[in-house]
Amino acid sequence: MRAYNFSPGPAVLPVEVLEQARAELLDWNGSGMSVMEVSHRGEAFMRVAAEAEADLRELMGVPRNYKILFMQGGATAQFAILPLNLTRPESVADYLDTGHWSRKAIAEARRYCTVHIAAEAGGEGMRVPPQSELDVAPGAAYLHYTPNETISGVEFHYVPAVGSVPLVADMSSSILSRPIDVSRFALIYAGAQKNIGPAGLTLVIAREDLLGQARPATPSVFDYKAVADQGSLLNTPPTFAWYVAGLVFKWLKRNGGVAAIGEANGAKARALYAAIDGSSFYSNHVAHDARSRMNVTFTLRKPELDSAFLEEAARAGLRNLKGHRVLGGMRASLYNAMPIEGVEALTAFMSEFERRHG
Ligand SMILES: Cc1ncc(COP(=O)(O)O)c(C=O)c1O
Repeated sequence: MRAYNFSPGPAVLPVEVLEQARAELLDWNGSGMSVMEVSHRGEAFMRVAAEAEADLRELMGVPRNYKILFMQGGATAQFAILPLNLTRPESVADYLDTGHWSRKAIAEARRYCTVHIAAEAGGEGMRVPPQSELDVAPGAAYLHYTPNETISGVEFHYVPAVGSVPLVADMSSSILSRPIDVSRFALIYAGAQKNIGPAGLTLVIAREDLLGQARPATPSVFDYKAVADQGSLLNTPPTFAWYVAGLVFKWLKRNGGVAAIGEANGAKARALYAAIDGSSFYSNHVAHDARSRMNVTFTLRKPELDSAFLEEAARAGLRNLKGHRVLGGMRASLYNAMPIEGVEALTAFMSEFERRHG
């Protein structure tokens, strides 16, 4: 039986996608072999690669003057690749400090350039700074922020206005979760293992004028222009992850695209927050206007019951609800592939658990 998997990442994938991958595993595309076993430079794989890119471009409405790169190294590699490509040692780069992942990005950037913190979450990290608090450094190489902080469950519901400073976003845990205007961003990156596909693939969407400025010592596979010039086939890419990402994009298109999934994600999150707010047993500590639709964190009024909650939930087929070790408590990740039925099963379990232990 398939569990409802609330993991923050690697995360749930659509059943239809898994079934298709299984059906095609031994004999992909009439080749007599799996997609993992064919050349990344063969015509068949190149078609998969190009289609995945075209589908993503369509889903997100990526303008023509942006390149889509399929890279490796995860979002963590991008923490360094970004300053390597867009700064010089004397540059200043703006960062919004809103939690665990933005701090990781900041620490890495400090190895390459001067970091100016343009705003902080404050409030024990359970809010996002409003636009009025943003102090953008004139001439900054870019402003980097994390639209969704996966660990605390804190999400920006606005896109920072930063004038002519290039806006960069780590969208690892929010990409494709609702419509965005890509033209507001200079560069977007995301590890694949939440809303896109298997781990191992990292997507970068970059405005063309930002390419070609990498520091001379940048490894070629991490030079945005070198990767773009080779159609992301500068070396062997994670072919299976790329193929599955392509299947996920097709699944999204069949299901109404990003607008429809955005509605569904809103409904899932509202249902879970309503269950939390409607009880005196569960609480969420995030400012209401910064609550994440992707990662819903909550605590139990009796933390001594945490492990009983997790064990009973797992027995009921509700898995991976344990909060991140730095925060404790619970976290339910509601990425695109989590069906509303999963949220309904969770809220029903929560009220039943409260009835028994509250
Ligand atoms: C917002 C965000 N940024 C970065 C990372 C790190 O990603 P990776 O493991 O792909 O390096 C994560 C992982 O969960 C994340 O959620």
